[in-house]
Amino acid sequence: MRVIKTVADFREARRQVAGSLGFVPTMGYLHDGHLSLVRAARAGNDCVSASIFVNPTQFGPNEDLSRYPRDLERDLAMLRAEGTDLVFAPGVEDMYPQGFATHVDVTGPLTARLEGAARPGHFKGVATVVTKLFNIVQPTRAYFGQKDAQQALVIKKIVADLDMNLEVIVMPTVREEDGLAMSSRNVYLKAKEREAALVLSRSLALARDKWSRGEKDAERIREDMRKLIESEPLAKIDYVSIADASTLEELETLDKLALISLAVRVGNTRLIDNILL
Ligand code: PAJ
Repeated sequence: MRVIKTVADFREARRQVAGSLGFVPTMGYLHDGHLSLVRAARAGNDCVSASIFVNPTQFGPNEDLSRYPRDLERDLAMLRAEGTDLVFAPGVEDMYPQGFATHVDVTGPLTARLEGAARPGHFKGVATVVTKLFNIVQPTRAYFGQKDAQQALVIKKIVADLDMNLEVIVMPTVREEDGLAMSSRNVYLKAKEREAALVLSRSLALARDKWSRGEKDAERIREDMRKLIESEPLAKIDYVSIADASTLEELETLDKLALISLAVRVGNTRLIDNILL
């Protein structure tokens, strides 16, 4: 496995890759969710690359950029064990040198709602860094997690709108045994908060249960989810959404593929989760 820190060195290494290249962009502090993407990339391509870069432009001014967990040596050991060939781990100054002035901004309903509404500028930062990473890495296929469902839709939109020559593959959310979706941010949770954080997956399970019993009224399901979350004193709802899975428009009736998604603050930690129904 080669660990490469600059754009120029990565380009040089990329020239020597023969066959298909699978790419997994990450912000590091890796867990099994990230590794499921690496495994899919390993299984589907001749060569596998991952990036580790905590992208400052996708964090808001009052978000957790400075305390975002980092452990490069541990991440590299995990990537090595999965058979990764090339790791791109640039510094902020490599990605955003003095005078950097170009951004990619996906406008319209895909970024106006949910995470886009709650985190102004977030998707502009994601779109810009992912476009840069695609240009540097030039993957055949790029792998993203359903955990960040809206992010995956935004990236598919960029690839389509800007005629990028790669395939975007979205892999299922990996969970802890008790249902909590794996996230680098789970380390922020104190023991009581870790327990309280189960309301996210529980409220999604409740939605699935109601739906499978024939409930098609979206507002009734949202209401039941909110009630369950509000019964947990450490949890504070940011949003609970039942939306068209491709346009993210809120639904009145569950009559097409729906993305049930939510953002909840548990203590100081903001967690997201979703399912497709
Ligand atoms: P990060 O949060 O590190 O996630 C990297 C990738 O891992 C994303 O595609 C995310 O959806 C996926 N992932 C995270 N948790 C997962 C889980 N429990 N199951 C399956 N996949 C999971 O997302 C980002 O970084 C950044 O926004 C990035 C795309 C790297 C741009 O900076």
